[in-house]
Amino acid sequence: MFQKDLLQRKRILITGGGTGLGKAAAQRFLELGAEVYICGRRQEVLAATERELHERTGGGNKNDDGRKKMIHSLACDVRDAAAVEAMIESIWADDPLDVLMNNAAGNFLARTEDLSLGAFQSVIGIVLMGTLHTTMACGRRWLATGHKGVVLNITTTYTTTGSAYVVPSAVAKAGMQALTRSLAVEWGNRGIRMNAIAPGPIPTEGAFSRLLPRPELEVEAKKRNPLGRFGTTEEFANLAAFLVSDGAGYINGEVVTMDGGEWLQGAGEFTALGRELTEKEWETMRPKKTAPKPASRRPE
Ligand code: HXC
Ligand code: NAP
Repeated sequence: MFQKDLLQRKRILITGGGTGLGKAAAQRFLELGAEVYICGRRQEVLAATERELHERTGGGNKNDDGRKKMIHSLACDVRDAAAVEAMIESIWADDPLDVLMNNAAGNFLARTEDLSLGAFQSVIGIVLMGTLHTTMACGRRWLATGHKGVVLNITTTYTTTGSAYVVPSAVAKAGMQALTRSLAVEWGNRGIRMNAIAPGPIPTEGAFSRLLPRPELEVEAKKRNPLGRFGTTEEFANLAAFLVSDGAGYINGEVVTMDGGEWLQGAGEFTALGRELTEKEWETMRPKKTAPKPASRRPE
């Protein structure tokens, strides 16, 4: 789908890059020539992903000199502003980043009235504050030196509609979306592009174990999708690679939905009704065919 050197010489940080969608993006970026940093809280998960991706991608970009290590992992809790600052400083000590992908998230299904303040703080802390910490740390450095930067935020399809039972996530992701559009404008004229991807359901252990607790719910979830299936990590990684590449240089402030049309299906007034109607009902609603009127005869 892409030229092999699409992301050559790009230095990219993916928060939450040790698992799921972040890991898939890390693999794709490495295959396309980028140098990738992944961060998360669990050191052992990061180390395993680093090893796996290093081996799977032949140590990174084969077009390079073959010596430089192209994948690095750093343990960091993005809720902790000081820890984020230290991580970004250590990356910059080598060279500036070119791309920041804010992908780390926390989420779970719960009735809102049951949630403690700590539950709200945990999810909002990861999703919204974590994104703010990394974005400010990179953004200030880019602005100070005139270095061009790209930010890609991973949101959800319920940022504008909200969603019952995932309220901490919905409010935090809505904030992330507002941040994306606001800074795309405020920083755009100084060389920083900022976009978001709003994925529909894509099977990952992290998301599905917390949000689809019974296998039969997956069947129902697929039925709610016009394409009748979930998205794939490869489809996600391809879109991410495109959006962070220079080829997408005029896309700024955009939230790209990739959900097979799922949220539109949920939003359409007549979608559910239309699926309920029988063949006979459709038939009775069609205009009746009437016999053509005889042509009027001209008076002679
Ligand atoms: C109610 C809960 C809860 C639950 C935790 N809490 N789970 N409350 N229902 N299921 C409360 C705890 O009681 C605690 O409150 C507070 O939240 C923090 O919980 P901890 O377990 O101490 O926090 P921590 O270990 O930091 O874990 C954070 C987490 C966890 C968010 C709770 O789920 C996590 O680590 N998630 C990371 C990965 C993830 O969520 N991936 C899915 C992303 S999918 P007190 O009051 O005791 O402090 C996604 C979009 C999917 O985002 C869209 C699909 C279409
Ligand atoms: P995932 O595998 O659980 O990914 C979440 C990642 O975030 C984990 O690697 C986790 O690692 C990291 N993380 C969590 N808290 C962190 C913190 N405080 N500091 C640093 N890292 C932290 O789930 P996923 O499905 O790949 O989700 C990736 C992104 O896609 C998320 O933004 C999610 O909201 C979004 N999304 C997913 C779907 C889907 O269907 N999969 C749909 C819509 C949107 P540690 O636990 O080691 O910290």
